[in-house]
Amino acid sequence: MSSWEINSKELIDNREEFLESIFTIGNGYMAVRGFDSFKPKKSYEQCTYIAGLFDYYEKPYTDMVNTPNYLISSLYIDNNLVNFDNITIKEKTQVLQMKKVMLDNKYILELENGYQLELKEEKFLSIFDKHTVCVRYSIKSLNFSGLLGFETGINCNVSNKIIHDDQTKDDIGEYKFLDIDEINRKNNCISIKLNTRKTGYSLVEAFTCISDGIMPTMKSCDQYEALKFECQLNDGETKTFTKYISIYTSRDVVENEKDNLIDVSIDALQNSISMGYEILLKEHIDKYNDIWNISNISISGDKNTEKKLRYNILQLIMNNACDNSNVNIGARGLTHGRYKGCYFWDTEIFMLPFYLYTNVEAAKNLLLYRYNTLNDARNNALEQNVLGARYPWMCTIDGNEQCDTWDIGFSEIHITADIAYAVQHYYEATGDLEFIENYGLEILIETARYWCSRFTYDKDNDCYNLLWVKGPNEYGGVTVNNTYTVKMACYNIKKAIEWIDFFNKNNKKIIDQLVNKISITKEELRVFNDVTKKVVILYDNDKQLYIEDEHFMQMEPINLKDVKVNDSALYNKICFDRLQRYQVVKQADILLLMLLLPQDFNEKQKLVAWEFYEPITTHDSSLSFATHAQIGARIGKTKEAIDYFNKSISLDYDNVMNNTHKEGIHIGASGASWQSIICGFAGIYVCNGQINVEPNIPKQWGEVNFKLYLKGSLLEFTISSKEINIELIEGKCIDINVLGNKRSLSINDPIKIFLN
Ligand code: BGC
Repeated sequence: MSSWEINSKELIDNREEFLESIFTIGNGYMAVRGFDSFKPKKSYEQCTYIAGLFDYYEKPYTDMVNTPNYLISSLYIDNNLVNFDNITIKEKTQVLQMKKVMLDNKYILELENGYQLELKEEKFLSIFDKHTVCVRYSIKSLNFSGLLGFETGINCNVSNKIIHDDQTKDDIGEYKFLDIDEINRKNNCISIKLNTRKTGYSLVEAFTCISDGIMPTMKSCDQYEALKFECQLNDGETKTFTKYISIYTSRDVVENEKDNLIDVSIDALQNSISMGYEILLKEHIDKYNDIWNISNISISGDKNTEKKLRYNILQLIMNNACDNSNVNIGARGLTHGRYKGCYFWDTEIFMLPFYLYTNVEAAKNLLLYRYNTLNDARNNALEQNVLGARYPWMCTIDGNEQCDTWDIGFSEIHITADIAYAVQHYYEATGDLEFIENYGLEILIETARYWCSRFTYDKDNDCYNLLWVKGPNEYGGVTVNNTYTVKMACYNIKKAIEWIDFFNKNNKKIIDQLVNKISITKEELRVFNDVTKKVVILYDNDKQLYIEDEHFMQMEPINLKDVKVNDSALYNKICFDRLQRYQVVKQADILLLMLLLPQDFNEKQKLVAWEFYEPITTHDSSLSFATHAQIGARIGKTKEAIDYFNKSISLDYDNVMNNTHKEGIHIGASGASWQSIICGFAGIYVCNGQINVEPNIPKQWGEVNFKLYLKGSLLEFTISSKEINIELIEGKCIDINVLGNKRSLSINDPIKIFLN
C-alpha cells in the first residue's frame, strides 16, 4: 500500500467514531469528520467545524460550534428510501489520499430485494479557496435497472454535546448554538443563513448539485434543505452528481459585507460552478503539492514509519488556518469537540516548531493571535491581583480563561512563559527583528512583569518563591517552586531584559514608544534582574538531579508496572485526586525543560534526570511520548527513543491511548512527533541563535530527507546513520554547527559529512 494513503481496511480499530476521527479532512479554515453522509445520526454526531466559530453555552465558557451537515444525502431505488441501518453493506472502504487531501468513500450495497449498487463519494475541502467544498457522488447499478433517486442537502438541525474539561465531571449535555435566520432558494442554489445565539456570528452555507441532463427538484422541511434528482438507472450504468458548497461566516468578511453574507457565498458558489470540479480539484492538488514540497519527510528505509509520520504532518497542515491571526489551533484541532476546541500551550511548545521551520507566515500568525489577546491577558492578571499579562491556560475567541477546572486553570501558569519562549524561538529561527519590535517585545515585557509580581519575595532567605503552582506534570499537585515553571519564567524575564538592553543601544525609539504605552521604570528593571538572580531552583548536588518541585520527594512511591498495564490513562483507573499524592509524572516535565533550554543543563544532568523521571512517568498525556523520543534520541537512549517515537506517530492511527474515537486527533502529539524526528533524531535545534545539527538516525530508517526554513533560507537535509548532507536551496548563506564544528553553507557548496 502507498505510504501516501490511509485505507480503513488497514486500521486495527473499525468503530465508527474512530474512523470518523481518523478520516476527518480539513483545510485549516474548516474540517469535517469522516462520517457516513448517508446514515442519519444524532444531531451532535456528524460534526463539521469552522476555525474561530465559537459560542457561549454559559458565559464566559464557549464551545466550538458544530455547524450544519452539508454532506447529508440519501438514495432511493424505485421510490423506496435506501436505509443504511437496514440494508447489507457488503463493503465499505474509506481512503484518505494524503497527498491530495481527499477522502474517498466507497460502498457496495445490497438491498433486501437483492439489488446491488456501488456508491462512491469523493470529497475535498479546497485549500486553494478555503470556503469551498466539492463532493462527487457516483452511483452504479451492479445488477438491476430501476428508478434512482439521489437527494443531497444541508441539515441545520445540529447541536453540540458539551464535554467538560474536568475529566472527573459529567458531560454538560446537548446544546444548540445556531438558529436559522434566512433561507434563499434560487436556480437550484440554496443558501441558508444562521446566527450563533450569544456571540452573534452569522454563518452562511450555500450549495448546489449538478448532474448532466437531470434537473433536480427542491425539498425543504424542518431545518433541512435539499435537491432531489430522479432518473432511470440501468444495469451497469453509473450516474454522477457533483455538489458544490460555499461557506462564509461574518468573521471572514469586512464590516460592510456582513449583511450581504448570502450574496458573498452565492457569488462564490457561482464561481465554483463556472470553474467546475476538475479545475477546482487541480488547483487544490497544485497547492497541496507546494505545501508537501516543503513539509514532507521521507524515510527511505521504513515506509510504514514514513506513512504514520506523514499522517501526523497532515494533521498539522489541515488544522491550522495559517493565514489568520485571530484563530489558533485547538488541542484536538478541528477534528472533535473535546476540550471545547480550546487553545493550550500545546500550540507554542509542541506545534509551533513545525510551522516555524516550514511555514513562517503561519507561525507568525499563531503568535500574533497571542499579541491580539494581550489585553485580555492583562485583564486576567489584574483579576488575579498581579501585574503585567497572564495568558489563559485555555482560550478561544479571546484571551479569557476557559478552563473550568479551578486548580488547573489558575495554577498551571507556565503557559505565560511558554508563549514568551515561543516569541524568542520565533526570532531565533527566523531572524525577524520587526516582529520583536512591533509585537514580541511588548509580550516579553508584560509577561516578565507578570512573573515578577507572581513570585513571592522571602525576606529572611532573600529569595523569590513561586507559590501555588502546577507544572506540566498535572499529577504533581498544586505545589511550590515547580522547576519547569521557575526556569521558564526566568528565561522570560531575562529575554525581556536582554531585548530592552538591545533596543536601548540599537534603536531607542522602540523603547521610547513602549515606555509611552506601558511605562517601564528603572526600579522595575532592577526587580526584573533581582528576580532572575534569586529564584529557587531545586537541585540535588550529590545526585546531580533537578527536582520537579518542593513536594515531589515527599510523594508516596508506587510501582507503575503494577498499575499501568496499557497505554490508556491511569486516571481512568485511579482517581485524579489520589494520583496527586503518588510519586508519578503524568507527562514530561523536567525532561521537557531540558529540551527547551538545552544550554542550561549538561549531559550528565540530562542522563540523571532521564534515569530518575522516565521510569515513573505514566505518559497519560499524549504530549509525553514524543518528548521522551526527542530527548532520548539526543542523549543516546536510542532504543527507548524509537519505541516512544513509534507510539507517538501511531497514537491516533492505532488508537494507542484508546481515546481517538471519543476525543479526535491529538494535534499536539503530531507536532511533538515532528519535533522528535527533526530536533531529536536529526538533532537540528536552534540555541542562542545558533543552528545545531547533531543527528542520531536509526540505521533501519535509511535516509531521512526533509526541508526546513532557517533564518529565511530554505535548506534540504538528507541524513542517515552514515552521512549528513545539507544543501542550500534558496536564500542567503548560513552558518551551521554540525557536530560541534562551525560550517558555512552556500548555494552550490553543500555540506557533506561521513559518519564513522
Ligand atoms: C495535558 C496538557 C495539555 C492538555 C491538552 C492535558 O491532558 O496534561 O498538558 O495541554 O491535555 O492537550
